[in-house]
Amino acid sequence: MAKDLVTVLNFRRLCCIVLVFCVWSFISFIYWCHYYGPGYSLYQKMELKQNQINDLFAFPSAWNQLAFSSKPPPKLLKIALFVKKWPHRSHAGGLERHALTLHLALAKRGHELHIFTTSPSSNSSFPRYPISNLYFHLSKPTAAGYLDQALVWKLFQTQNSTGRPFDVIHTESVGLLHTRSRNQTNLAVTWHGIAYETIHSDIIQELLRSPKEPQGSALTERTMKVIAEVRFFPSYAHHVATSDHVGDVLKRIYMLPDDRVHIILNGVDEDIFKPDIAKGNDFKKKIGVPESRTLVLGMAGRLVKDKGHPLMFEALKQMLEENEVFQQSIVVLVAGNGPWGARYRDLGTNVLVLGPLEQAQLAEFYNAVDIFVNPTLRAQGLDHTLLEAMLSGKPVMATRLASITGSVVVGTEVGYTFSPTIASLKTTLYRVWKDGRGDLKQKGQAARQRGLQLFTATKMAAAYERLFLCISNDENRGDNYCQYQIP
Ligand SMILES: *[C@@H]1O[C@H](CO)[C@@H](O)[C@H](O)[C@H]1NC(C)=O
Ligand SMILES: *[C@@H]1O[C@H](CO)[C@@H](O)[C@H](O)[C@H]1NC(C)=O
Ligand SMILES: *[C@@H]1O[C@H](CO)[C@@H](O)[C@H](O)[C@H]1NC(C)=O
Repeated sequence: MAKDLVTVLNFRRLCCIVLVFCVWSFISFIYWCHYYGPGYSLYQKMELKQNQINDLFAFPSAWNQLAFSSKPPPKLLKIALFVKKWPHRSHAGGLERHALTLHLALAKRGHELHIFTTSPSSNSSFPRYPISNLYFHLSKPTAAGYLDQALVWKLFQTQNSTGRPFDVIHTESVGLLHTRSRNQTNLAVTWHGIAYETIHSDIIQELLRSPKEPQGSALTERTMKVIAEVRFFPSYAHHVATSDHVGDVLKRIYMLPDDRVHIILNGVDEDIFKPDIAKGNDFKKKIGVPESRTLVLGMAGRLVKDKGHPLMFEALKQMLEENEVFQQSIVVLVAGNGPWGARYRDLGTNVLVLGPLEQAQLAEFYNAVDIFVNPTLRAQGLDHTLLEAMLSGKPVMATRLASITGSVVVGTEVGYTFSPTIASLKTTLYRVWKDGRGDLKQKGQAARQRGLQLFTATKMAAAYERLFLCISNDENRGDNYCQYQIP
């Protein structure tokens, strides 16, 4: 009996030892495999695949979502830019502002920028910048105000054969015509409005046409313009779409290969457009907004018909007349000038028309409003004012145009969208009013987060820099700028 007990105990001990040994061997084996065995490299390879984009050209979404290093660029590029007009100050259309913001940022990062643009009219002076690696090559515009293609091409070729040749050519829309861009493989064009997108505006304008006005022929002409664009766009090697919607149209309707279409959303200066409550309050005091007003709406830009001001005017007029409580609680700030400025003034004390504002004042203006409203009917490019308002931490309300709903106001968490009709505009304005300041503040914070994630000038410039590096990639020299490592 005692002997049996000893055997059992010994057996148990043996089992224990064997078990411990097995576990130890197993752990050692795994350990060994992990570091030396074939399992390791397989495991490592899989992980690399998940964390790396091997061909950035094929990346289907906005490059603004990617995180590029802010360190000095690995290679300094010589870049040529073709742009019809170089803006003087902040009063400039979307295309010119894009050209200015982007290329100044690239020059500040050390790249050699050569800008081919038209000389200003005899009176006005050309802006000067204290940047030594930024060169302007001015030429007299054609009678229609475009770049004289033969002339700028000659200027370009002189620069191309002086020092080193250009690494990349960039053109803002058709600054450089397709007849010149045809054989250039190191070229990218940024589209600010394509004809297909503008068809939506033509439809809206036709629906809003009063019976007294004659029917336009814009729609038929626009369709022919789309056909022409589909035919000549392939003459540009790389295409940058400034919104997700335009990226989709370029691939699907214009039938450009996926790896030649890249989405880089517009960005605005995040050092200028940022939340500042004190500035906003001072601005309200300065222009005389009574504290009793619980909702401040803001609009900015050219006050013209195709920016939707007739619609907005009529909606506001009806609301101020029909609802006394609304009338006593709101103020509308209107920045900018144009024919609708005077008409807004006729609406009385509820509307403050401020005239055009300089960039610094505009930053204060955004901080003073509870919500920024853009009733634009122009489906062209990505509107900068919406991005500025969002970076200032304000919710936005805008027309349901595909570039806006697809890239900017993507959900109710950052703002509101409406159809371009008086009824829809009124319903949405009433909803904004009912939601009130508390809700709007919350949406404003979400808008700011989205803005920081996607719409800063820094993000835009970093994305273009990488695109240009990828375009000038030389694998023979060991470059791998078209690969992207997810941080
Ligand atoms: C040039 O300046 C004069 C006087 O300052 C002004 O009257 C004229 O309109 C200007 N012309 C252009 C093209 O800006
Ligand atoms: C620019 O110069 C390079 C190098 O000489 C040459 O290969 C290229 O064709 C030139 N580009 C144009 C458009 O002339
Ligand atoms: C482009 O290349 C083709 C073939 O090499 C040539 O016939 C044509 O003239 C070139 N076009 C331009 C604008 O340089």
